[in-house]
Amino acid sequence: MISIVGSGRVGASVAFLCVSNGLDDVLLVNRNKDKAIGEALDIASAIPANSEFSIRGTDDYSQLSGSDIVVITASVGVYMKDRTENMELQVKMIKEIAQKIKRHCPFAIFLIVSNPLDVLTYFFQKESNVPRFKVIGIASSLDTSRFRYCISETLSVPQSSISNALVLGEHGDSMVPVFSGVLVGGNPLFSMIDSRESITEDVRSYWKKLRNFKSRSQFGIAKNTFDVIDSILHKKEISIPASVVLEGEYGENDVSMGVPVKIDQNGIFEIQKVKLDDIESSSLKKSSEKIRNYIQSIHT
Ligand code: LAC
Repeated sequence: MISIVGSGRVGASVAFLCVSNGLDDVLLVNRNKDKAIGEALDIASAIPANSEFSIRGTDDYSQLSGSDIVVITASVGVYMKDRTENMELQVKMIKEIAQKIKRHCPFAIFLIVSNPLDVLTYFFQKESNVPRFKVIGIASSLDTSRFRYCISETLSVPQSSISNALVLGEHGDSMVPVFSGVLVGGNPLFSMIDSRESITEDVRSYWKKLRNFKSRSQFGIAKNTFDVIDSILHKKEISIPASVVLEGEYGENDVSMGVPVKIDQNGIFEIQKVKLDDIESSSLKKSSEKIRNYIQSIHT
């Protein structure tokens, strides 16, 4: 069973993708029971005729029992200028969810989507004591999708011609697009652009630009989350950047940030090393420091 805690736009979009693709039974959990039931009833009309699965909504956390995957998209409110605006309240919320998780489904794999993503991935793992490789923060793969799109738009090339695009570090303004390994039509990206600044700014501010046209993002994060669920449930391996609590990898301890990982049906099974140039290495260090400062600022 796939359980989704938080049935707002993102949670409902993830549920819709899972149900319409016939992945598994889906449980939508929301503190507002009617909201969860309403989204479930709507999405139930997208169940394929040949599907053996269904969807339901609840505000009762005990129904999480038996979940194989739990997606956490819950939020206490809307942030406007920065993903860390409600950080203290979000951390308090994720700790409460973690305590409920420990009671009802401690052996599931957890996909954290709520922001500030890296900070919440860290506190969820510490509070739940779930093995770190079963707590996966989904965001750097979204940032990577945006990086690929920005390259495609800048160079007027199809995304299919772009390989090795990768964004690491904070899901925030210090995120690190890794240019040095990117190939476009088999040729180094660096041979086609004058500098990395412009595309870097496009990727970092993508979410704000999007908000000039709609209230918040929804489908990109939902599809990136769905791809991980799909690979876990179908026992396929997937290689993406994702936030995970680090214990020495990339020279980092006691912080969660986006790094390249390999995921199978049991969760993360490898944190991959990638070659970074000096600018990328230095930017990644700054990014981890920023996340660590946020973590240390929490008093909840
Ligand atoms: C964004 C949200 C998911 O980057 O953090 O759109």
